[in-house]
Amino acid sequence: MSVQPLVVLGAGGNSLGILDAVEALNAIRPTYRIEGILDDTPENQGRAILGARVIGKIEEAPRLEGCRFVNGISSIASFRKIPEVIRRSRIPLERFETIVHPRATVASSARVGRGTAILAGSVICPEAVVGNHVIILQNTTVNHHTRVGDFTTLSAGITILGYIEIGANAFIGGGSSLAPMVKVGDGAVVGAGSVVIRDVPAGRVYAGNPAREIASSKHALR
Ligand SMILES: CC(C)(COP(=O)(O)OP(=O)(O)OC[C@H]1O[C@@H](n2cnc3c(N)ncnc32)[C@H](O)[C@@H]1OP(=O)(O)O)[C@@H](O)C(=O)NCCC(=O)NCCS
Repeated sequence: MSVQPLVVLGAGGNSLGILDAVEALNAIRPTYRIEGILDDTPENQGRAILGARVIGKIEEAPRLEGCRFVNGISSIASFRKIPEVIRRSRIPLERFETIVHPRATVASSARVGRGTAILAGSVICPEAVVGNHVIILQNTTVNHHTRVGDFTTLSAGITILGYIEIGANAFIGGGSSLAPMVKVGDGAVVGAGSVVIRDVPAGRVYAGNPAREIASSKHALR
């Protein structure tokens, strides 16, 4: 197969992990040529991240004929924009790649969607289902029969046990643990280092051990 030109959406901190995964894949077999990054922030235009340049805004995606894409938008400050940004990019789902770091593990019976990135050290266990445009940062485990919805971000170092359902466009903070069979609703947030033992309703922000809804946030989710 020929080397594919690849564009990353979003120039935030987690695009570094995707670029690192691409470099590691290329070291095994030349697979992608990084064409650049698309990002809407004016200050990011022309900036270089690990040698990849920001080549324009999201709406310029349709003119990048022949390129493949992957979602790199995933910070606590930006994750709610992911569905709108992907829609606005007008990139058809089949042009999104699934990027799995060669030192991540995906069970043969697990399913992983398009536009999704699984970074170094993460493990997707048998019968797990991960949706489209999901980012799974480093050293996170998604255990058996767990389902992760589209546009969701799983930060680094999370233990997600079996038979868990995480909805669409949710955000799970770094270092959290989720007990078997809990449900995390669409758009919900779990704070860093939390221990989730009960369901988290859609759109709510839970944190702590055991995780509870947190008092009104003093900052716009950071
Ligand atoms: C949960 C989170 C989004 C809340 O941010 P916020 O809306 O700005 O909330 P605030 O900082 O105003 O905190 C509100 C209250 O919740 C508490 N709180 C916030 N985050 C908490 C956490 N992770 N665990 C326990 N309590 C937490 C605060 O102490 C504060 O309590 P108080 O009102 O008694 O003082 C944020 O703290 C967080 O955990 N972000 C995740 C970051 C992350 O994992 N990034 C991924 C990098 S890989």
